Amino acid sequence: MNSIYFDHAATTAMSPEALEAYIEAATAGPGNASSLHAHGRTAKERISLARDLFASLLQCEASEIIFTGSGTESDNSALYGAAYAQRKRGRNRIVTTAVEHHAVLNACRHLETQGFSLTVLPVDEYGRVELSDAMAAIDDTTAIVSVMAGNNETGTIQPIAEIGEWARKHKAVMHVDAVQAFGYLEINLKELPIDLLSLSAHKINGPQGVGLLYVRKGTPFQPTLYGGSQERNRRAGTENVPGIVAFAKAAELACGQLQRRRNHAEEVRGALLVKLQEELGPGQFVMNGHPDERLPHILNLSFAGISSESMLMNLDLAGVSASGGSACTSGSLKPSHVLSAMKISSERVSSAVRFSFGLGNTREEANKMAKITATISARLRNR
Ligand SMILES: Cc1ncc(COP(=O)(O)O)c(C=O)c1O
Repeated sequence: MNSIYFDHAATTAMSPEALEAYIEAATAGPGNASSLHAHGRTAKERISLARDLFASLLQCEASEIIFTGSGTESDNSALYGAAYAQRKRGRNRIVTTAVEHHAVLNACRHLETQGFSLTVLPVDEYGRVELSDAMAAIDDTTAIVSVMAGNNETGTIQPIAEIGEWARKHKAVMHVDAVQAFGYLEINLKELPIDLLSLSAHKINGPQGVGLLYVRKGTPFQPTLYGGSQERNRRAGTENVPGIVAFAKAAELACGQLQRRRNHAEEVRGALLVKLQEELGPGQFVMNGHPDERLPHILNLSFAGISSESMLMNLDLAGVSASGGSACTSGSLKPSHVLSAMKISSERVSSAVRFSFGLGNTREEANKMAKITATISARLRNR
C-alpha cells in the first residue's frame, strides 16, 4: 500500500468515529425501517435522527432530505426529478456548465436525447463561469440550472448564490452538486437560493455508497426510482441504515470542525507548493484552477514536459497516490473535460496531476512528496 495518500477528492477513509457508528448500527441486529415491529422501529429511529442532524447542519427541514445510494444518484435524481416535473409546466431547457462532474453532465446529455434542450456554459481559464453567461442562458423556459459548488479536479468555486438568484427570478429550479464542497464550505440552505443539493458520504470520511439529496419544499420534483414508499415516496428502496448513520456522524464532524479542516488542508497544500518551488525551481510547474476562489483541499498542477500518466505511475511506484483528474476520468487516458474546457494549452491539460488532502495528511508528507516529485521530474526530463 502506498504510504502517502493525496487523493482525498477521489475517496476518503472512514473516520474512526464514523466507522464506530457504522459498526454499532450494523451489528445491533436486523432492521428494515419499513417494518412495523420493534427492530423496524429502531431502524426508522436511527434514520430519523440522522435526518434531523442533517437538517440542523444544512439549515433546512428534515422532510426536505432524501437519502440516496451515492452522489451520482443524487445528481441524476435531481436532474431527472426536476426536468420531467418542469416539462409538465412547459419548461424544456437545461443549463449547466462545462466543468460539472460526469454524474451531472452525462445525465444532462441523456435528458437531451429525451427532447430537452441543453446549454453548457463555458468557463474562463480558471474554470469559473461568468455570471453574465449564466444570466444570458437562463430564461422563463429554463427547467433546471445545475452548477457545482466546488470543482473536483481544480477546486474552483462557482458563483452559485448569484446564479441561484437569477434562476429563482425565472422560476427555474437550481441544483448544486456540493459533493466536494461539503465540509469545506459553509452551506446554509436558509440563506442560499438552492432548490436541490447533492452530497456524498465517502468524500467526508463517511462510507462509500451513501448520498443525500436535499429537495426544497415546493420544488417541482418527481421520483426516479419507483417501488416502496420510502423517503416519502421520493426514493424507493430499503434504506442503508448503517451507512446513513455513519454518514451523519461523518457530517457532524466535518461541519463541526469545518475551520479546522480548512486550515489543515491549506497547511498541507501550502507546504507542498513551497517545497515544490524549492525542489523543482521556477517555471517547472503551473497551477490549474482559481488561485483564490477555490476549495482548500484540492491542488491541480501541470509539470512542464511530463505527461500525467508518467508522473502518476512514477509517483505510485514511489509510494504516492494522486490522480490525473476525477476518479472516473483517470481510469481512462482521455484528457480531462474540466481542464479542456478551461482554455489552457493541450500540453498543460495532458500533464496535469491532482493532489487532494484530508484526514491524516501532514506537512512532512508534503515535503517528502515534493522531494519525490523532484527526483521523478529530473529522471523523466533526462531521458
Ligand atoms: C463533484 C462530484 N460530484 C459527484 C460525484 C459522484 O459521487 P459518488 O462517488 O458518491 O457517486 C463526485 C465523485 O467524485 C464528485 O466529485
